[in-house]
Formats: sequence, C-alpha cells, structure tokens
Amino acid sequence: MRNRARDVSRKWLVLSALAVVAASACAGGTDPKPAALRAVGPNELRAPSDFAGIEDEAERSRALFVEAARVLTHPRCINCHPNGDVPHQRDEMELHDPPVLRGPDDHGVVGMECTSCHQDQNQPLTRVPGAPKWALAPIEMAWVGKSVPAICEQLKDPKRNGGKSLAQIVEHNAHDPLVAWGWSPGADRSPAPGTQAQLGALFAAWLETGAHCPKEGP
Ligand code: HEC
Ligand code: HEC
Repeated sequence: MRNRARDVSRKWLVLSALAVVAASACAGGTDPKPAALRAVGPNELRAPSDFAGIEDEAERSRALFVEAARVLTHPRCINCHPNGDVPHQRDEMELHDPPVLRGPDDHGVVGMECTSCHQDQNQPLTRVPGAPKWALAPIEMAWVGKSVPAICEQLKDPKRNGGKSLAQIVEHNAHDPLVAWGWSPGADRSPAPGTQAQLGALFAAWLETGAHCPKEGP
C-alpha cells in the first residue's frame, strides 16, 4: 500500500518527463530539433537553464515543477508529509518504528513528543535524525499517495499550505531547516537529489514563469 503510493508518484514523474520531451518536440513545428532534457543521474537535479529550450513559458513552468517534484517525492521529504497520523521511515517508507502519532498539533502525543527523541541535529550513535523544530507536516500538507499535479495545486493553495504566498513557498524550499535536513540526513540515509540551493533555484524559476502546475496524466 505505502510502496504503491510511492510507485504512483514515481511512475507519474517518468511519464510526465517523457511528455515534456514529446510536447516540446511537437511544439517545434518546422524545426525538428526536440528539446530533450539533459540526462542526469538519480542524485542530480537539472538547473533552470536546462529548460531554456522549452519555448512556451507555461510549458517550461510545468517542466520546472516536475523537476522540483523529484525532491518533494523523495523519501527524505515525503516521510514527514504522510497522509495519515504516523510518519514514514527509511527509503522503503515503512511506518515509523517505534510507533508514534502526530497528536493534536503534529508534534506527537504527551510522553511521546517528536522532540523527546529527535534533537536539533542528527545523533550518530543512535541513528535518530534531527533538525530544529522536528514535527510532522500538517495533514493538509500531505503528499504521500498524491500525484505531482495534485501536490502542486495544494502547494499553491493558501488554505492548504499554511497561509503562505508563493514567494514564501520559494523561500521555505530554499532556506527552511527541515527542508535542509533532506540533504544531510545522517546515518546511511540517501540524501534528496541535488542541493537545497538548486531546489530553491528551480522554485524561483517556476514562480518567474507563472507557477503553472503540471496536468494530470492519462
Ligand atoms: C521532520 C519533518 C519534515 C521533513 C523531513 C520535511 N518537512 Fe516539509 N514540512 C514539515 C512541517 C512541520 C511543515 C509545516 C511547517 C511550516 O509551514 O513552516 C512543512 C511544510 C513544508 C512546505 C510548506 C508548504 C506545503 O504546502 O507543504 C514545503 C514546501 C515543504 N515542507 C517542503 C519540504 C521538502 C522539499 C522537504 C525535503 C527536502 C521537506 N519538506 C521535509 C515537516 C517536514
Ligand atoms: C521514541 C523515540 C522517537 C519518537 C518519539 C519519534 N521518533 Fe521519529 N525516529 C526515531 C528513530 C530512532 C528514527 C530512525 C529510524 C532508523 O532510520 O533507523 C526515527 C526516524 C524518523 C523519520 C524518518 C526519517 C527518514 O527519512 O528515514 C521521521 C520522518 C520521523 N522519525 C519523524 C518523527 C515525528 C514527526 C515524530 C513525532 C510525531 C517522531 N518521529 C517521534 C525515534 C523517534
């Protein structure tokens, strides 16, 4: 079930990346040169300049979000943005062990607060990951099991994004310490692709191009 949820996001990303390539190939008209995206490894992120070949601005905006979503849907992020009351763990997105609950304010329940184990930095001896203000993302910010277009629409909606403006969303991705943890996760955890600065640059470029959301696939 949980793995399937992630598979949906992953499959969607692959399909939409192909769609972007196909769409820009058609948009060329008499120019047969397809604007294929630069191939990158799973740990790398493309830069905004990699999307310059997509002439249509809205199309470019959507492609930039799809790239940024490679970070959002990574286990380091999505484990803390679950669609239930329990955080996920590890690359397999297992349910949190020991069992913990989000509680009334996403910080755990009395006696089992997140910060009774999670400090403001990683603890190498115990494997417990840490960053300032460790807590679950509120349920309206859940990403597990959602498609990339749905995550995008939700991220833009002040009722579901913590009342943030789009500029604040860019800022959060570029500088928030919980987001930063995604690239210094400690123990043997795999970091999110690219760097936080690169994620910030992708979000800034997405906003500059009109903050368009990708469309639901077939
Ligand atoms: C330890 C848990 C935790 C981790 C790990 C985490 N987040 Fe969050 N995230 C939160 C919490 C809590 C909030 C709400 C707090 C706030 O709005 O300032 C949040 C809110 C957000 C928001 C704001 C708006 C929204 O609609 O979701 C964005 C964007 C975001 N996180 C991105 C990320 C990214 C990108 C990563 C991975 C690189 C990540 N988060 C990893 C806990 C986490
Ligand atoms: C009793 C101690 C304890 C409590 C309480 C606790 N955690 Fe954890 N948590 C851990 C340990 C230990 C790990 C590391 C497991 C591992 O990877 O071996 C962990 C891992 C995680 C991870 C996984 C990181 C990743 O990507 O693999 C997340 C997310 C997380 N905790 C969130 C929370 C949140 C949110 C709360 C509060 C609702 C919380 N935890 C409460 C001990 C705890």
